[in-house]
Amino acid sequence: MDNRPIGVFDSGLGGLTAMRELIRTLPNESILYFGDTGRVPYGSRGREIIRKYAKQDMNFLIRHDVKAVLAACGTVSSVARDIGDALPVPYFDVLRPTARAAVEQTKNGKIGIIGTAATIASGSYRKEIERLAPKTEVFEQACPLFVPLVENAFVSPDDPIPRLTAERYLTPIREAGVDTLILGCTHYPIISETIRRVMGENVTLISSGREAAKSCRTVLEENGLLCDGKTDGTQQYFVSDDTESFYKVAELFLGQSVESCVECIDIE
Ligand code: SIN
Repeated sequence: MDNRPIGVFDSGLGGLTAMRELIRTLPNESILYFGDTGRVPYGSRGREIIRKYAKQDMNFLIRHDVKAVLAACGTVSSVARDIGDALPVPYFDVLRPTARAAVEQTKNGKIGIIGTAATIASGSYRKEIERLAPKTEVFEQACPLFVPLVENAFVSPDDPIPRLTAERYLTPIREAGVDTLILGCTHYPIISETIRRVMGENVTLISSGREAAKSCRTVLEENGLLCDGKTDGTQQYFVSDDTESFYKVAELFLGQSVESCVECIDIE
């Protein structure tokens, strides 16, 4: 047993979608979250910068004595697949569990993947799906404007700005006839209702944050790292820029105020 916190990092707000599921599935576990709000988005940057940022994020969590690290960022998970290999604690990311969930879910063998420009360019989701189910047809689309919309709190499904953006990005994928769509960036579940309205009710949306949270439980169990369960877990949030949007979207998304447990730090 291990009562140390789980460490979660993301380029900004997106990892909150994993946080929400972690809090639900592991209510006694304490979690330390780092959102790199000062340097978001990662998805429009080059491979070496993404790796550098991810290493700094992970080192910050390790310095806080976490017992496991979750990269709740689709871009890091896709572009820097080996980044956690040298860590002294178990490391896991969103890619594998999400691809597996999509393969298990699809009935017609047509899976859509949306993600940041870096995620789609890496081809990592496509390769993982083809490894698991070689006959699957995969349709990919980069959606670079989704992350800035979320980070700036344009998240209402009734707002025409995200709706029009979603229509522009998603129409070709919908017309390809996919029955399953991977939200390959953890920011996207925050606008899942907007995405659902464009894709239609018959398309199953797979949230990478949710799938990663499920696999976290397995990783902790397998490594004997679950907490003793005697107290409720606590959450602590660190960000790299003092942004109002973090409070606003976090509150909206988690259904609770986080203002008293957020600290702004210098990640460099
Ligand atoms: C980004 O920072 O561009 C998005 C992070 C993600 O891919 O989940």
